[in-house]
Amino acid sequence: MAQDLRAFGSRIVGAGSGFPKRVMTNKEFESFVETSDEWIRTRTGIQTRRIAEPAAGESTLTLCKEASIRALEFAGVKPNELDLIVVGTVTPDTIMPSTAVQLQHELGAKRAFGFDLSAACSGFLYGLSIADKFISSGSYQTALVVGGETLSTLINWRDRNTCVLFGDGAGAVVLKRTETEHRILATQLHSDGGYGHLLSIPHGFAKVPPDSVDYRRDMHKIHMNGKEIFKHAVRNMVEASQAALDEVHLTTDDVDFFIFHQANLRILEMCSRILGIDESKLWVNLDKYGNTSAATLPVSLDEAWRSKKVKEGDIILMSTFGGGLTWGAGVLRL
Ligand code: ACO
Repeated sequence: MAQDLRAFGSRIVGAGSGFPKRVMTNKEFESFVETSDEWIRTRTGIQTRRIAEPAAGESTLTLCKEASIRALEFAGVKPNELDLIVVGTVTPDTIMPSTAVQLQHELGAKRAFGFDLSAACSGFLYGLSIADKFISSGSYQTALVVGGETLSTLINWRDRNTCVLFGDGAGAVVLKRTETEHRILATQLHSDGGYGHLLSIPHGFAKVPPDSVDYRRDMHKIHMNGKEIFKHAVRNMVEASQAALDEVHLTTDDVDFFIFHQANLRILEMCSRILGIDESKLWVNLDKYGNTSAATLPVSLDEAWRSKKVKEGDIILMSTFGGGLTWGAGVLRL
């Protein structure tokens, strides 16, 4: 393993998830777009997803709060022990104040500072890497890293190419400083704005005022070239995974468990095949939740950990891919 000269490292000491109550089945889409349960299942692996109900008070913030409380309880860490809160999201309830700052207040994490991070589905991995660097530099001791989304607010429900793919949810982890062992072994983060048009939400404050023609053309909703995204997702997640493993002189044989961004079962199967991964070591929950963007990695870790599929000491490879384009991979010891 490469020599690591950092004085401190960090490790994940707890994880948690939060989901809306409403379960939406594939069948429900048949009533408003031309699709079928069979098409969605065979092309994506998705069977159900959770959809937040604003009338029931559900939002990105409430899902992040639920996930964070569970992660803190799991870790045995009190909110006022937190130094830093990072939330990866592209669907904050408000642009300002940020989700992280509202979360800090709601949790009573009085000592912490926080910020949101916009990297689409890669938001959690970017946040994990940043928090690890803050802790490893000696600046802080304890961090909460959250990935939370209500993509249902950005779905164009008339577009069958995208509306069936996404769901709402949040996942969180607590990171603590370690002085003896660095457990976030490697993170490889990448982006390429040259391909941003392949998966985008074109509306922004400087573009497309709400009363414009573009608004009526759903430019404030998700637009995606599925076929191209599929190819980039496979290539980039495979390359980033290999690079992260190379960085710490490990191979896939050394990895106990694989947690990849949950977008499409065929993407997971293709990545596994190319990397030579035994599929019994691969976490899949997109059948239940669809693609929850920045939430998929922490939710998967939480579920795998609580169901004892992974345990302390295991080597885990995470890889992600999202709009931007953004992508990356991380190797950690639990
Ligand atoms: N129901 C029925 N038919 C559909 C649906 C649907 N929900 N969606 C698309 N189709 C149709 C298309 O219109 C097309 O019809 P046509 O041939 O008459 O034009 C046909 O199915 C085939 O479309 P393809 O795009 O070739 O279907 P493909 O097998 O590529 O599957 C899919 C589409 C599922 C979107 C796939 O390309 C994919 O998963 N891409 C990656 C998407 C992704 O992962 N996005 C998120 C990653 S990043 C992030 O997480 C934010």
